[in-house]
Amino acid sequence: MYNIVLVGFMGTGKTVTGKILAKRLGRDFLETDEIIKEREGISIREIFEKKGEGYFRRLEKEVVKETSHKKEIIISAGGGAIIDEENFRNLKKEGMIICLEASPEVILERTKHKTCRPLLNVPDPKKKIEELLKKRIPYYKKADFCIDTDSLSVDEVVEKIMGLVSRRDKDPQG
Ligand code: S3P
Repeated sequence: MYNIVLVGFMGTGKTVTGKILAKRLGRDFLETDEIIKEREGISIREIFEKKGEGYFRRLEKEVVKETSHKKEIIISAGGGAIIDEENFRNLKKEGMIICLEASPEVILERTKHKTCRPLLNVPDPKKKIEELLKKRIPYYKKADFCIDTDSLSVDEVVEKIMGLVSRRDKDPQG
């Protein structure tokens, strides 16, 4: 059976949503960033600092490829993963791709007290969020479904995804 792949910008709730969804559906949960961290033995921030973004993206590509071969799991892909065409194709092969969306204001609120995201550790994170979103929205829109999470609780987002899953299970071609 197909994978459920959560994509979308940093701070849109992919991890927390994915974990709850995995419990509800009795499926395994894999997060590309977690696998990368485990393999390297250091944090994502340290990987960016010590080895650069290019190195991180190469690792991400390998991890995306491996996880997308699995079956019936929930995958949370790092916010930049599907900007890469090959990553998108790999995740799409076995997966229903769901993009979690949020406005720049909400993303800033959800991320501003955390330092784990190297791309947002800049003097003006709001501007950075807006710039990155502008570039990335066309890629995020390629998802099978998009859910605006601005005014939804995590449980409400999970319910919406459960609805999409049950629709797909009733009508696999639909
Ligand atoms: C990134 C998002 C992060 C992480 C890395 C780069 C991005 O993951 O992969 O910091 O390019 O948007 P989350 O989306 O899980 O925060």
